[in-house]
Amino acid sequence: MPITDYFSRDPNKRAKFIFNLIAPIYGNVDAGLIKNYRHAIGIVDKEIGIKGKRVLDIGTGTGAWAEAYRMKGAVDIYGIDFSTKMLTESRKKHPEISFAFGDGENLNDFADNSFDIVTASYVLHGVKKDLRNKMLNEMKRVSKKHVVIHDFSGSTPLFLRFLEMMEKSDYKNFKANFCNELKSLFFEAKKLESINGSGLYFASVKTF
Ligand SMILES: C[S@@+](CC[C@H](N)C(=O)[O-])C[C@H]1O[C@@H](n2cnc3c(N)ncnc32)[C@H](O)[C@@H]1O
Repeated sequence: MPITDYFSRDPNKRAKFIFNLIAPIYGNVDAGLIKNYRHAIGIVDKEIGIKGKRVLDIGTGTGAWAEAYRMKGAVDIYGIDFSTKMLTESRKKHPEISFAFGDGENLNDFADNSFDIVTASYVLHGVKKDLRNKMLNEMKRVSKKHVVIHDFSGSTPLFLRFLEMMEKSDYKNFKANFCNELKSLFFEAKKLESINGSGLYFASVKTF
């Protein structure tokens, strides 16, 4: 994990460097996030129902968002991430969930329409629109019906703005344009506000 990766022009190289570096810390502080996730997952459950569903979580990190689905009764949950260090943490914390190395831009390990819900939490704001659309198209392909994005919305807390600057993320454009990006790619899309500067973006795949 050479430091030069942080200065790379390749955004994925930079992201892998950052998330591998912070994985052990992230695994210890995600308790703070879990309160937000508990609120957000209640909204998802009310909106589309989670019990009995097969779920794929892209950019699962330490697995906190995947765990929120498990707590609401999802039956078959997979988390993928391209940070090996994040996967080490998620496997330690949530042995009931299946975690694997994978890149959200290419979900070739998964067949078309193979999950009820395909989701990502705090992943898509990190990449520019072209990569974001590539990931969304893959999420759409492997989902039978629902794609659910949990991410920034409204005012972003100051310390997170600092982290986003370090990550060189696209969070400002994301907040301004993401709902319209979703509407252009999916049959239906909408946003529901959650708490602490987060929102839930629901998109559905057309079913005939
Ligand atoms: C801010 S963390 C969020 C982790 C977790 N979803 C959560 O909400 O706690 C972003 C995660 O997405 C992963 N990630 C970013 N881009 C990815 C990609 N293209 N494929 C797989 N994982 C990715 C990073 O490695 C990191 O673990």
